Amino acid sequence: MKKTINFLFFLLLSSPLFAQLPIYADVTKPIDARVEDALSQMTLEEKVAVCHAQSKFSTSGVPRLGIPEIWMSDGPHGVREEIEWNSWDPAGWSNDRSTAFPALTCLAASFNPAMAELYGVAVGEEARFRKKDILLGPGVNIYRTPLNGRNFEYLGEDPFLSATMVVPYIKGVQSNGVAACVKHFALNNQEDHRDNINVEVSDRALFEIYLPAFKAAVTKGGAWSIMGSYNQLRGQHCCHNDFLLNQVLKKDWGFDGVVVSDWGGAHIPMQAAMNGLDIEMGSYTNGKVSGSKFTYDDYNLAQPFLDALKKGQVPMSVLDDKVRRILRLNMRTNMSANRPFGRYGCDSHSAAARKIGSEGIVLLKNVGNLLPIVPGSAKKIAVIGENATRNLMQGGGSSELKVKYVVSPLEGLTNVYGKEAVTYSQGYSSGSPNYDRETNTKLNADSLIAAAVESAKTADVVIYVGGLNKNHFQDCEGADRKSFDMPFGQDKLINALLAVNKKLVVVLMSGNAVAMPWVDQVPALVQGWYLGSETGNALADVLSGAVNPSGKLPFSFPKKLADNAAASFGMISYPGDGVNQKYLEDILVGYRWFDTKKIVPQFAFGHGLSYTTFVYGKPASDQKTYDKDASIKVTLTLKNSGLRDGAEVVQLYASQVKPSVMRPVKELKAFQKVFLKAGETKNVDLTVAAKDLAFYDEVSKGWKLEAGKYVLSTAASSADVKGSITIEIN
Ligand code: GLC
Repeated sequence: MKKTINFLFFLLLSSPLFAQLPIYADVTKPIDARVEDALSQMTLEEKVAVCHAQSKFSTSGVPRLGIPEIWMSDGPHGVREEIEWNSWDPAGWSNDRSTAFPALTCLAASFNPAMAELYGVAVGEEARFRKKDILLGPGVNIYRTPLNGRNFEYLGEDPFLSATMVVPYIKGVQSNGVAACVKHFALNNQEDHRDNINVEVSDRALFEIYLPAFKAAVTKGGAWSIMGSYNQLRGQHCCHNDFLLNQVLKKDWGFDGVVVSDWGGAHIPMQAAMNGLDIEMGSYTNGKVSGSKFTYDDYNLAQPFLDALKKGQVPMSVLDDKVRRILRLNMRTNMSANRPFGRYGCDSHSAAARKIGSEGIVLLKNVGNLLPIVPGSAKKIAVIGENATRNLMQGGGSSELKVKYVVSPLEGLTNVYGKEAVTYSQGYSSGSPNYDRETNTKLNADSLIAAAVESAKTADVVIYVGGLNKNHFQDCEGADRKSFDMPFGQDKLINALLAVNKKLVVVLMSGNAVAMPWVDQVPALVQGWYLGSETGNALADVLSGAVNPSGKLPFSFPKKLADNAAASFGMISYPGDGVNQKYLEDILVGYRWFDTKKIVPQFAFGHGLSYTTFVYGKPASDQKTYDKDASIKVTLTLKNSGLRDGAEVVQLYASQVKPSVMRPVKELKAFQKVFLKAGETKNVDLTVAAKDLAFYDEVSKGWKLEAGKYVLSTAASSADVKGSITIEIN
């Protein structure tokens, strides 16, 4: 009897008559129905409130309806420490030490989309655990100049590589119910004058070079949010740029997510309202340039927006579109039914950081096979250079991380080679970490060099660890590098070391190319990037041979700055005259420039050596001629002709034989990382959609694929073509 009564009581309660749950809160309902329901219940003031910050990194939600606040956090390489409610100061929490993953240049250098997915899942788990709804990353701005302070946060110079690598990262992050926020949309390719510089760029360069990674992020990655950039494009700030946000992003690409401003990137109330901005975040309480009494109501999308709506200057439909997008982000994140719970600072994240790092490290040079240094083969290894011990997770700007731990290069090398074999000498000093002014770098330089030389004299092998260090002007947000040279007297130090010991391995930790006056004398050279918490282990994995390096450069290393495209057109090209800037190199960015101008780079885009060797077979295509909607398949054999397992990134570049417009000599259109055991041969298939051979036609304002001949080249780098075939597009 009792059971019957209980059952009847349950039936009654679960009947619609008693359902207290409003539709918007009912996770079993479709997202758009929930959005409409919530929207219909919000007041005008509540709608405006969700369109701007309530604090440094959050928006207010709708407390009355139980629509949660949206919490955001930097950054692309890991979850930033908690920041105070209303300042840039750390909140001083004790539970926010995160795992630092390698910088995105390192991820790009892996040329392995599986690493991007591993990365996105792991960093998304950390963001989820820290209860963040939006992770402010990844950054996909194109590497236009080696001086850009934030290149280390991005995926390099090639639009196809960036577009291919960003998609799995986004999917990985969002699989945790955390929104990725792809930034900085668009043309934020430098830090100097970033707040206002007005970029003039051709449509071709815009659509062929600077937008593809963002388009892939939206149309293939399904990004739930995008961050507008500080700079202007054709006279409008990108945080409220009608062409970029309303036309390209939302209309052409069908973006259904949220456009978030960069912090303080909105300037004009009516543009903020009408030009596609959905959430305004800010650097000060007034969102602009100074701290007002308290109120976040000064934000462009706060009181001024409410006033304009009440006066009928802005249609309610414009407000509702913003709010729908924001509510959709709520439903996808903090109001989602099947949101996992994330993880934080766990071994699997450390393992991911280490794997991505060791796959991204690039072996640039290895004369005489000085590398790998097999453990036990050297009695005395002199480790020299401040970057062997410096915590490179600090600094760099908003991507900085307070980490749970970091294994330094010195620790990693000592773990592998043993305390008795490894000695350390600082070699140079960059002074205390600082991010807004240059330090005195003449700190007892001579004595440091002298000590380092002493240490090197008697070593069997010297491992130098230097590069840049995310100090101001040295790979840091807010300012570009002032020189292409390495700072802190490092060139002088390297030459002093070479004078006493030829067995020198130079490891550069940086997110940028640097001048290498000593490059011909250095037998072994490694681009080490910024590797995160597992820096020392990832580096030691490669230097000891535990991991066979397979990274490839995601951007060209010019021999001198003047060889760089952006540097070739005077100040108006870079860094601009403070007001305007013209991308006069147009589509010829990176290797596209070097190829066309026949300039030999120091190291080419796509270059990277291995401890084994590979033999490329002749490429063959599955057809001779293709229709315009066809998929082109190129096959070749790849043999590991060396004595140890390894991986090679086979690249496919396309060249149109007789284009009607100027086109680069060749452009990357496919790549595949192939893992081969020693002696193993595999068939490699590379596919390219014929439509992807098109160029952006400024006359018809669209993509144009011209019939005719195209050369498809298989290559080990943009400067190392192994084989070519000619095909015909009907
Ligand atoms: C910074 C950066 C942006 C970052 C944001 C919040 O100015 O440009 O990348 O996510 O502000 O820190």
